[in-house]
Amino acid sequence: MNREVLAEVAAQLVGEGKGVLAADESSPTLTKRFDSLGVTSTEESRRSYREMLFSTPGLSRFISGVIMYDETIHQSVADGTPFPSFLAGSGILPGIKVDTGAKPLAGAPHETVTEGLDGLRDRLSHYRDIGARFAKWRAVIAIGDGIPSGYCLHTNAHALARYAALCQEANIVPIVEPEVMMEGDHSLETCLMTTTETLKKVFDELHDQRVFLGGIILKANMVLPGKDCPEQAPVEEVAAATISCMRAVVPAEVPGIAFLSGGQTDEDASAHLNAMNRTKQRSPWQLTFSYARALQGPALRIWAADQTAIEQAQQALHHRAKMNSLARSGRYSAEAEKLDDVAAHAH
Ligand code: 13P
Repeated sequence: MNREVLAEVAAQLVGEGKGVLAADESSPTLTKRFDSLGVTSTEESRRSYREMLFSTPGLSRFISGVIMYDETIHQSVADGTPFPSFLAGSGILPGIKVDTGAKPLAGAPHETVTEGLDGLRDRLSHYRDIGARFAKWRAVIAIGDGIPSGYCLHTNAHALARYAALCQEANIVPIVEPEVMMEGDHSLETCLMTTTETLKKVFDELHDQRVFLGGIILKANMVLPGKDCPEQAPVEEVAAATISCMRAVVPAEVPGIAFLSGGQTDEDASAHLNAMNRTKQRSPWQLTFSYARALQGPALRIWAADQTAIEQAQQALHHRAKMNSLARSGRYSAEAEKLDDVAAHAH
């Protein structure tokens, strides 16, 4: 493990004004998104969609790294340049999702454990050889009747730490992602309690498994009421609850927290990040984004409707990336949202 390399890559990922584009949907997940928009999912259509995203002019002003899926990291842009070299050439760090998905947890109905540890050391070494500088592993924690169980939190935290230790051995920065899901009608308080407990367990395991905290990025959910909770929370309340949760459990040594969007609207995801960056009383970590849906949504819809509308789709991605970049420093507003959109459409 080279701590300097790890710390440097981690710092780059959460560098000023920048965040991560998660484009690591597995082929089945991307197929579902394509299906819902009437696009046939093939290896080539998935490649061509990712090429549209990655070749967005000016993307590296706002995006520090892109997370890819195994199929994607082995694909190339039309001129034959492999995606990892293409991204690195435009100043964006190539990353790779290395878990193999959340599978039913034995003996625990409605709960999952994320798999992918078998053979991970060799896979990491291969991914590093082809250009990956960081990785991602997502644990899924559902809130429901009597869940999450301590058993689910423990097994997922243990696996996350094993993954993180193996990444660091390979000089790859692990993005550690325990996602507490928004599905359900639970309150903000329940999400707060569950997220706090989850993160506590994760940091205990990271500590026990000797993970260097200066060389990881935490990818966390924001603290929100469940999607079906009748009482939704104002932006400021979400920001305050999220920050206080993070303060209670995330060690200061961690360079940054990159939030996932989790099914929030594009604008909510920007507004919440913005409010956190405005209210932070000198948070020790960078607070940024690692969004999939909240960055790609509008671009995907435009591209799906007309696959020749590359420029318009790229403008839509550029717009969301820019809005979230502004939110990184508390400069996002509804007005900025409108002004940039108008500017993009004037081109
Ligand atoms: P969303 O931003 O769409 O939640 O996705 C982030 C992610 O990478 C989940 O693992």
